[in-house]
Amino acid sequence: MTIYSIAIDGPSGSGKSTLAKALAEKLNIDYLDTGAMYRAFAYFVITEGFDIHDEKALMELLSKFSIDFSQGHILLNGENIEGHIRTQEIDMAASIVSTFRMVREKMVDLQQRLAESKSMILDGRDIGTVVLPHAKYKFYITARPEIRAKRRLLQMNSSNTDYDEIYNQILKRDNQDMTRKNSPLKKAEDAILIDTSDETPEDTLYRILEIIQREV
Ligand code: DC
Repeated sequence: MTIYSIAIDGPSGSGKSTLAKALAEKLNIDYLDTGAMYRAFAYFVITEGFDIHDEKALMELLSKFSIDFSQGHILLNGENIEGHIRTQEIDMAASIVSTFRMVREKMVDLQQRLAESKSMILDGRDIGTVVLPHAKYKFYITARPEIRAKRRLLQMNSSNTDYDEIYNQILKRDNQDMTRKNSPLKKAEDAILIDTSDETPEDTLYRILEIIQREV
């Protein structure tokens, strides 16, 4: 059987993770949430008591950082941390640690090694441009910022966060992820652009499946 990869990039709240998960299930291949890797590292730095801007500390902590995946959950040094990495604090911290070149190098290396051995869907910011430039299929998923903020609010399911705060944070994170020096978020030239603003997750899934099936 031939090994192939699907690269899905896009900003936060675009629907890329929901799509990647559903697509992986339909195609019966593995899914790697690369954002969760940056989140796990940011969580590690904070829980070890270091400043996420401290490049020297990040370098030291990278050598002690080990992650694994078990049934869709992310394990940090053996512990399931899924329940700790989807907070607003980690949203911003992951975006900051991901700007450092040596952090990216370690994550990209891990991602490439995983995708080498089996067919996989990877979602993130630099999959089609840097991690898997030769992926068989590349999609750039986006949605209007106000829609993304609404989705994020629903996802957070917390009474002490308000829409404006989330909306502003989304804009700030977009700006950080798209303007950073190392591997900024951008559409790969050969990626197919999909705007999910006015679609349900099912609409998007079937739209993508149609494209994939048309090409095989
Ligand atoms: O997809 P996410 O929101 O879980 O990602 C969290 C942060 O990690 C995001 O703000 C930028 C960074 N990231 C990255 O730089 N490269 C990736 N491939 C995935 C995520």
